[in-house]
Parts: sequence; structure tokens; C-alpha cells
Amino acid sequence: MEQKTKHQGWNQRNVDFSKAHGNEDEAFDKLIESMNLKNGMTMGDIMSGYGAVSRKVLDYCSKNNLYVRVILTDAYEEQINKSTSYLAPYELQGYAVQKRVEDARCLSLENILDKAVIKMGLHEVPKNDQPRIIQNAYNALKEHGEIYIWESFGQTPELSRCFRELVKKKDELAGFDSFVENRHFSHETDIFKQLKEAGFRDIEIVYDGIFNYTTKNLLESDFLGDESKLQAWNEYLRSTLSDEEKKAVKFNDTGDSISMSFVKKIIRGVK
Ligand SMILES: C[S@@+](CC[C@H](N)C(=O)[O-])C[C@H]1O[C@@H](n2cnc3c(N)ncnc32)[C@H](O)[C@@H]1O
Repeated sequence: MEQKTKHQGWNQRNVDFSKAHGNEDEAFDKLIESMNLKNGMTMGDIMSGYGAVSRKVLDYCSKNNLYVRVILTDAYEEQINKSTSYLAPYELQGYAVQKRVEDARCLSLENILDKAVIKMGLHEVPKNDQPRIIQNAYNALKEHGEIYIWESFGQTPELSRCFRELVKKKDELAGFDSFVENRHFSHETDIFKQLKEAGFRDIEIVYDGIFNYTTKNLLESDFLGDESKLQAWNEYLRSTLSDEEKKAVKFNDTGDSISMSFVKKIIRGVK
């Protein structure tokens, strides 16, 4: 009997975020500039995946003769293990890279970080669990330490709902059961509220850019090359979004792929 590959979530998904999330250079430049990294600092890369944030930080430090420690945390060994080769050049230069397989809802770091970055991670857990992640990051930071939440969502709360639904449809088609069950893309108003409630002050947006979402970019990573799933997703988008929503997200349908514009923001808070 033919074996079907089962893809449930982050224990299986193999994605290059520089492709899935579109160009991120500008946002990374802004993140690094805002962090104002100094010798001896410790940065937490929470929900790190393969360590894209850590790599950018270490690359900047290496070019600018700065020494920082990085701590990567992710709930899935399969993801964090990929960081070993990805960050090897910096470890060889003497940078300390610590890896912890830990659910961000149970993060047990205290008073140790100067900076904490959660890039495209918060949406991985249900809405009700998100405050716990932010609270744990608050506890992990030293006094005056800073959190950076990098997320994508809609331009308005209504378009955020639309974004949430269309990602959910993609996850359903891809068979990512745990994503369908857990993910919740919050709008910035909810993130501001959660940061405030955790005790953060001086909350502000340090980067505000466009999140270009192109359906075909997910063909290999999420649909394993299955064109019929991509077409089913495209069809869902064509028939579900209202004309008003299509206009607001600059809906561009080329037949085999659809592009839409949402937003990508980095929100900073100070402990
Ligand atoms: C969209 S990826 C982002 C990875 C990385 N921050 C980046 O932007 O390249 C989300 C990551 O969150 C991790 N993750 C999902 N649920 C988690 C949880 N409850 N606690 C910690 N990590 C989690 C996944 O394994 C995955 O690596």
C-alpha cells in the first residue's frame, strides 16, 4: 500500500523563512539598529527555529568587533538542531551559543537577558497562551531589558481576521493539524495590550513594513510540490475574500499564484 507522508507541524515542516516570509533585510536592519547591541550583552532568540535572528545578530557583532552571547529556545528539537550548522561559523569565532529545547509557555529563564526577540513566534500558540509567553520573556529579561516582537498580521483587526483564516486554510490543506489547532495571528492592538499587562513600558513600533504573501512560495515547503493543493488554496482565496478585502490587500491573481500585501511590524517594550 502506498505510504502517505503525514505532516503535523513543526516536528515536520522544513521551510526557508527568507522565501516564505519574503524579503526581510530591511526589517532585520531596523531590528539590529534598534537593539543597540553592546559588548557583553546576552540576547534571547525565543521560538528561534533554525536561528535566523541569532545569525543576523552574530554577523553584525562579528563585523563590528562586539561580543554577545545568544540563547536560542524552541519547543522542537527538529527546528533548533538545524541551527548547529547555520551558526557554526560564529561558534568557531568564539561566540557562545546556547540552545534550549523548551516551550516558550514554560520558559524558565530569569533575569538573564538584555534583549529578547520573538520573531514570527507568538502566533504559534492559541490567543489565551500568548500572554504567558510575553510574561515569561519579561521574567527572562534584566531590569531595563528590551523585548522585540516581530509579527505579521492585517492592516486592520478585520484584515487580521482575514489573514488568520487564509493561513488556516493553507495549514488545513497542508495537513498541519497542530497549526490549525494552535495558531492565532493577533493584531498589533492585542500585542500592545499583552505587553502592557506583562509590565512592559515605552511600547512602540520600531519597524513597519509590508508582508508580501505569495501562495506559490509555499508550494514546496507546505504542499510538498502538490499543485492541486496550491490550486485549491488559490480557489479558496478567490471565492472567500470580498472585493473590498481584495482591494485592501492588493490581491494579484496570476492564475497559478496569488500575491497579497499584509503588514510586518516589530514592536519593542522595555522592562
Ligand atoms: C514561524 S517559525 C519562526 C522561527 C524563527 N523565529 C524565524 O523567524 O526564523 C516558529 C517557530 O516557533 C517554534 N514553536 C512553535 N510553538 C512553540 C512553542 N510553544 N514554544 C516554543 N517554540 C515554538 C517552531 O518550532 C518554529 O521554529
